[in-house]
Amino acid sequence: MHAETLLRIDRDHLIHPVSAWRDHEEAGARILRSGKGAWLTDIHGKELLDGFSGLWCVNAGYGCQSVVEAATEQMARLPYATGYFGYASEAAIELAGRLAAKAPGNLNRIFFCQGGSDAVDSVLRFIRFFQHARGTPQKRHVIGLAKGYHGSTYAGSGLTALAAFHRDADVPLSWQHHIPSPYPYRHEGDGQDSTIIADSVAALQQKVAEVGAANVAAFFCEPVQGSGGVIVPPRGWLAAMRRACTELGILFVADEVITGFGRTGPLFACETEQVVPDMMTVAKGLTSGYAPMGAVFMSDEVYETVRDNTPPGVPIGHGMTYSAHPVSAAIGLAVLDLYEGGLLANGVAAGRHLASRLTTLSEHPFVGDVRISGMLAGIELVTDKTSRRKPDPSLGLSKKLAALGYRDGLLFRAFADDVIGLAPPLCCSIEEIDLMCDRLTRIIHEIANLRDVSSRRA
Ligand SMILES: Cc1ncc(COP(=O)(O)O)c(C=O)c1O
Repeated sequence: MHAETLLRIDRDHLIHPVSAWRDHEEAGARILRSGKGAWLTDIHGKELLDGFSGLWCVNAGYGCQSVVEAATEQMARLPYATGYFGYASEAAIELAGRLAAKAPGNLNRIFFCQGGSDAVDSVLRFIRFFQHARGTPQKRHVIGLAKGYHGSTYAGSGLTALAAFHRDADVPLSWQHHIPSPYPYRHEGDGQDSTIIADSVAALQQKVAEVGAANVAAFFCEPVQGSGGVIVPPRGWLAAMRRACTELGILFVADEVITGFGRTGPLFACETEQVVPDMMTVAKGLTSGYAPMGAVFMSDEVYETVRDNTPPGVPIGHGMTYSAHPVSAAIGLAVLDLYEGGLLANGVAAGRHLASRLTTLSEHPFVGDVRISGMLAGIELVTDKTSRRKPDPSLGLSKKLAALGYRDGLLFRAFADDVIGLAPPLCCSIEEIDLMCDRLTRIIHEIANLRDVSSRRA
């Protein structure tokens, strides 16, 4: 179909996720046609270096033949098998077994769903089942972090703490609470790692005391906050929060939808601090974006508590038609082969190079903070480095940045609050990382020197 026709149909019929509908109709879609490795080609033949792995998900890069073949083979042989009524597919069973073997500690039970949002929503339901099963149904309150993102189901959007997801949506719900984010660059105290960690632990303890220890079920966090602006907590923070949850008698849930599958280096970010959550959510890198799939990893203890306190013959009422979809599972297996066959190691090496290149950017007068965890990076722009003043929202920086990126053939995330997000595919070569950083540096330089921006810089 001709590009103009597609643009018209898109405007008239396709509702885009998390978009300003009026603005989208004015701007029109950027239509992508193909991809190979870290590169995308749009409908006009323009080549784009994908510095964001689609939406932090195409960890293996585009066009992996082994993944395509695994999907094709599964689709031809058995495109669908329900998990209901005791049925299963070979691929789903094999994937659950391999993931359980790789998972932290005793996270041995795996529930497959379609993506990250329903993984979070599933956890919220499993928490209810668990608390009922252990005879503490009043434990229904859940605590998350400011700037946290946990998807956009009804319940998940309330646990999320980003204004766009709360506006006109009647969330957070009455049982959802938030404590401050462990945000080193904008920490209100001395910014020392130990203070940031102590402040988070104290905030959690205080919130639990305020809501009542007998009423709190769980604490949720991302090991690195992604959509909130790539906020990397200090080393030791995750383990301290895990410990605090154990002491407070509440479940610790790690949302590894972004950080899972090599994004920060190891297969799961929790491994870095030997943290074993009670439940863990993943999606994105699980299939590297080749097909929708998410998963909940559940500890033996949570699983057995629910199992042993539910009468025989009574089903646990949670499931979806596409739970453990065999094509997604076959893709998951092929992608896992890639991670184990060198992709994780390549991501670690490329991530080191990315860090060395981006660190030099922090000298730039328009760059306040550069934060990096493996192949995940955030660059925070400020108009005054000393006071850490944020650019005036009227400058519309994120739109300008995204437009310059597209013009120069570089895709990254331009967050609304002046943070540039990078999450390159783990398959990137050192040359591709260099090209990405060269292009980004030029763009930051250009935007800092735009007349309306430079006139408001200190
Ligand atoms: C930490 C986290 N949790 C949950 C989600 C929701 O995942 P999905 O968009 O697959 O529903 C996301 C998506 O970016 C995420 O970053």
